[in-house]
Amino acid sequence: MKKLFFMLIALFVVAVVVTMVAMPSVKTASGIFISGDESQPLADSVMKIVKVSCMDCHADGGNGMANAHVNFSKWVSYKPEKQAAKANDICKMITKGAMPPKKYRANNPDAIPTQAQLTMICNWAKSLNK
Ligand code: HEC
Repeated sequence: MKKLFFMLIALFVVAVVVTMVAMPSVKTASGIFISGDESQPLADSVMKIVKVSCMDCHADGGNGMANAHVNFSKWVSYKPEKQAAKANDICKMITKGAMPPKKYRANNPDAIPTQAQLTMICNWAKSLNK
C-alpha cells in the first residue's frame, strides 16, 4: 500500500514537470506565471515593412521553403525565444542584402528595404534579445 502511494506521488510529480516543460508560459490556477514571457505580436512598424518586402513568400500561401524559416502569419505563435532568434536572423539577412532574394529585388525594387528600415528592424531585433 505504501509503495502504491509513493508511485502515485511520483506519477503526479512527473506529470507536473512534463506540463511545465511542454507549456513554459501556462498560468497556474492563481494566475501566476510559472515561467517565460508572453509571445508578442509583430510591432506595427515592423509589420509595415515585412508586409511589403517579405510576406509575398514568408506568410501563409507564400513559399513553403521560406515559411519553413519564418512565417510572419504565424509570428504570434512563436515562443519569445524563437521570436528573438528569428528577429536576429532577419536583421542579418536583410543587412547582408540576402533577403529579399536578388531576383525578387530586381522585379520588385519598391520592396527593397531602405537604410532607415534596416536600422529599424535591427533595433527591434536587439530589443527582443535583451
Ligand atoms: C521571393 C520570396 C522571398 C522574399 C520576398 C523574402 N524571402 Fe526570405 N526566404 C525565401 C526562401 C525561399 C528562403 C529559404 C532559403 C533556403 O532555405 O535556402 C528564405 C529564407 C529566409 C530566412 C532564413 C535564412 C537562413 O538561412 O537562416 C530569413 C531570416 C528570411 N528569409 C528573411 C526574409 C526577410 C526579412 C524578408 C523581407 C525583407 C524576406 N526574407 C523576403 C524567400 C523569400
